[in-house]
Amino acid sequence: MAIRIKDNVFTLQTKNSTYQMKADDKGILLHTYYGKKTDETDYSYMISMADRGFSGNIYEAREDRTYSLDFLPQEFPVCGSGDYRVDCLHADLGEGVNDCLMFFDSYRTYPGKYSLEGLPAMFASQEEADTLEILLKDNQEEVYLHLLYGVYENYDIITRAAVIENRTDREVRLSRVLSACLDMDHDGMDLIHFYGRHAGEREMERISLFHGITELRSTRGTSSHQHNPFVILADKNTTEEEGNCYGCSLLYSGGFHMQAEVDQFHQTRLVMGMDDSDFTWSLLPGESFVTPEAAFAFSSQGLARLSHCYHDGFQGSLIRSSWKNKRRPILVNNWEATYFDFNGDKLLKIAKEAAELELDMLVLDDGWFGKRDNDDSGLGDWFVNEKKLGCSLKELVDQVNGMGLMFGLWFEPEMISEDSDLYRNHPEWAMVVPGRKPIKGRAQLVLDMTRKDVLDYVKERLFSIMDSANIQYIKWDMNRSVAAAYSALLPRERQGELRHRYVLGLYEVLEELLQRYPDLLLEGCSGGGGRFDAGMLYYAPQIWCSDNTDAIERLNIQYGTSFGYPMSSVSAHVSVCPNHQNGRVTPFKTRGICAMQGTFGYELDLSRMTEAEKEEAREQIHTFKERYRLFQFGDYYRITSPLENRDFTAWEYADKDGTEAYLGVIYTDLHGNPAAQSVKFRGLLPEGRYQMWKDKEPAGIYTGAALMNGGILLPVPVENYDSCQIYVRLEE
Ligand code: DGJ
Repeated sequence: MAIRIKDNVFTLQTKNSTYQMKADDKGILLHTYYGKKTDETDYSYMISMADRGFSGNIYEAREDRTYSLDFLPQEFPVCGSGDYRVDCLHADLGEGVNDCLMFFDSYRTYPGKYSLEGLPAMFASQEEADTLEILLKDNQEEVYLHLLYGVYENYDIITRAAVIENRTDREVRLSRVLSACLDMDHDGMDLIHFYGRHAGEREMERISLFHGITELRSTRGTSSHQHNPFVILADKNTTEEEGNCYGCSLLYSGGFHMQAEVDQFHQTRLVMGMDDSDFTWSLLPGESFVTPEAAFAFSSQGLARLSHCYHDGFQGSLIRSSWKNKRRPILVNNWEATYFDFNGDKLLKIAKEAAELELDMLVLDDGWFGKRDNDDSGLGDWFVNEKKLGCSLKELVDQVNGMGLMFGLWFEPEMISEDSDLYRNHPEWAMVVPGRKPIKGRAQLVLDMTRKDVLDYVKERLFSIMDSANIQYIKWDMNRSVAAAYSALLPRERQGELRHRYVLGLYEVLEELLQRYPDLLLEGCSGGGGRFDAGMLYYAPQIWCSDNTDAIERLNIQYGTSFGYPMSSVSAHVSVCPNHQNGRVTPFKTRGICAMQGTFGYELDLSRMTEAEKEEAREQIHTFKERYRLFQFGDYYRITSPLENRDFTAWEYADKDGTEAYLGVIYTDLHGNPAAQSVKFRGLLPEGRYQMWKDKEPAGIYTGAALMNGGILLPVPVENYDSCQIYVRLEE
């Protein structure tokens, strides 16, 4: 077992990291170590105790004025304890103030991984992970806090979640419950985070933390385009290849809150959890509140290794789809090909071309239901528009299947248009404050996913469409932020529960959908990548990464996404040029190479492609099918950063045993009389001899040592946004 316990010191050992905490003689659960793998020494000897001015002492410390939670490192700091730093819990136990103090009560361990009712969580067999559950109790009231730890030895991942249990006979009011805290004994760290906007998600930014609080949050009801619930704390000198870094990923698809505070004694604290801006929760006697899970990883070998922990951990123990180990279908989606302007014939024409190119699937996007010829109407009316299709959905799907293609369908189940039969019949199903004008987004309103009748309707519609035809894939979209939300069924004093209850409602539908159709391939989407989070990955093994399909802007977006999410989850398509989002023209080849960084597919009218483009597409499809094992299961390396290298971006997939590797290169600038450009491979066997191909042309034999230390010269680009693919394989 990866969990060692001695004298109330809890040491969690993974392959390369150690995490330690201690219930001290007062019963406070201190955080004593997280970092490079070490032994089970009680590291609390590193905590310096002193009588510090204006740092109050808990009563249990008696005359000891050196004991203060104002500076002690803790596992789950709470409000009202004399700790003035950012904390995890604000609970009113009945006195009208947020005042509780949690003391060690007991613990238990078991092989395997805990699960969280109604919420996504990493899973494991009994051999793959161990669970530690520490029970804390308020010093006066029967209010308990279960701290859950899942230890994944092989992935170097430690998951955390908390459960608050009200065993009193009164209501406990919660106004902030975050998932986890990480206290470090030093400052001078960098925060790496991923901000953005619609069509420009997850731009990586690295900043120095300062004395004070840095915070990131989404108050939008979704994890959002603007900030991502994944952050990294890194030492100043940490690079892709070297140095210490800690990742924290929240498995939650609603709003979130991350704070990083450097305190008066130069210590750093990170807290992460669900958005608490409008949050309140009434916890009645006998009830429990479960937080979303946070997944921590540590690497002493730089950022690439940290990403591999998440890539492997999520791929192995979060993504549970039956598709996770299969090659994902190469699909063509009709959105950018037709937008709302399609009929059955047009779709079949695209399907025919797709079949000829040996693609795997046709996805019918927005506009196939209700009255939906633009984005002003129809959401909620999930009834097939047979007039528009010219046939029933089954007839269309059967024809597509008959061509040897699978069929996928777009839904946006959480939404309702004012101009819809659903709204005309059930205006109260929209989350609108009574008597006030709603905030609209893309002209639509949000369905009240906290209501059982709404969930029943959504499920009934989804399941009945699913049962009507052979649908093997669903793209689950969500095209606005939640604003001024109100639920007609929640009493006024419980409206603060709405946003979390909404997410629980969403998860309930997703869970039932997958239970009912276990082989369904679900693709997440929210106006592109507005809900690209680890919570969603539990249901959807792939997520549409961005509505921006320009190959050059995608380099930034996919670069940022790669830090915390497996590339097999990054949905990416070849689209038409000039690009619909920014008007840029890039070579067809480059668009293919960029899409192969992720799941790969097409989003254009195949029937309007030139013969040369079709030839190129055949080549791309062949390459993807041939190399998908590398792309889906290999180790991903960010060879250059598009934010730093203005000339080209390169990335690599290396087989885990170093037998083969693929390097993608896209040039982002051109120069007269250009300087030589080179890159170094990673993840090869130094003594191995590798045969190299540049764009399929044999390009010599090199040792792994040469490729990794000397590197290779890149071909000189011959046109704007040129690109190349380099493949190496151990000599037979
Ligand atoms: C937003 C998605 O990101 C697009 O790919 C497309 O599905 C549209 N919605 C359809 O309305």
